[in-house]
Amino acid sequence: MKFFVDTANLEEVKKAHKWGILDGVTTNPSLIAKEGVPYKQRVLEICDVVGPGKAVSAECVEADFDKMLAEAQDIASWHENIYVKVPMTPAGMEVITRLAPKGVRFNCTLIFSLPQALIACKAGASFISFFVGRVDDMGSAEAMQNIVDAVNMVKTYDFPQKPEILVASIRGPLQIVESIRAGAQIATVPYKTLEMLFHHPLTDIGIQRFTEDYEKALAALNSKNGASGNGASGNGASPKDAGQSIEEKAKVG
Ligand code: G3P
Repeated sequence: MKFFVDTANLEEVKKAHKWGILDGVTTNPSLIAKEGVPYKQRVLEICDVVGPGKAVSAECVEADFDKMLAEAQDIASWHENIYVKVPMTPAGMEVITRLAPKGVRFNCTLIFSLPQALIACKAGASFISFFVGRVDDMGSAEAMQNIVDAVNMVKTYDFPQKPEILVASIRGPLQIVESIRAGAQIATVPYKTLEMLFHHPLTDIGIQRFTEDYEKALAALNSKNGASGNGASGNGASPKDAGQSIEEKAKVG
């Protein structure tokens, strides 16, 4: 499953990009509004950080067909990484139908049902953005079942543009687990949630135990060498000194 980071914050994009696991970035007008910078400027900065081959979604805000068409053409011209986000509306589908054959790639957003996903696939969208968190927020259990069904749908119908089911509006790690189980092609994840995915209590305990064992072994060797009077005792050696095994450290002095 590909990981996109769902943010318009450049520092978050930079941090996630450094881990080497990032496949793309999704932005939306609400995320951009929080940043207080011009939309195009920020999208180009993001493209620059993530580099070639990474998908960067930038959203149209126009609702009317003619205006959305012009806006989509403009956004698509900003950078080769761009996927133009259009909403699941008749005008949005018309824009996709008009521009996808010309090579513009689309992320169809605000999808909440299987028929909407089918329509977006038929229009020619590359990414089908299902908002799961907003459905969960309503106390409905159908969001993840929609993902399972949509993944099956794209396998069954073999649309020419090979659309990918993108799980959006993610609220926490459990939705990532469910997205993997569903076989979703992409999850777009808020930076804070992405960071949470690294952690497991047993990983933390494991690291602590390895460090403690190492420190104990080193202290024992140091005190043994000290006792035999070879001068290694109290030399301030740290178990974190890079590139030296316990045995090498014991030979010091
Ligand atoms: O980018 C679309 C989506 O991820 C928005 O999420 O948290 O506003 O429901 P949210």
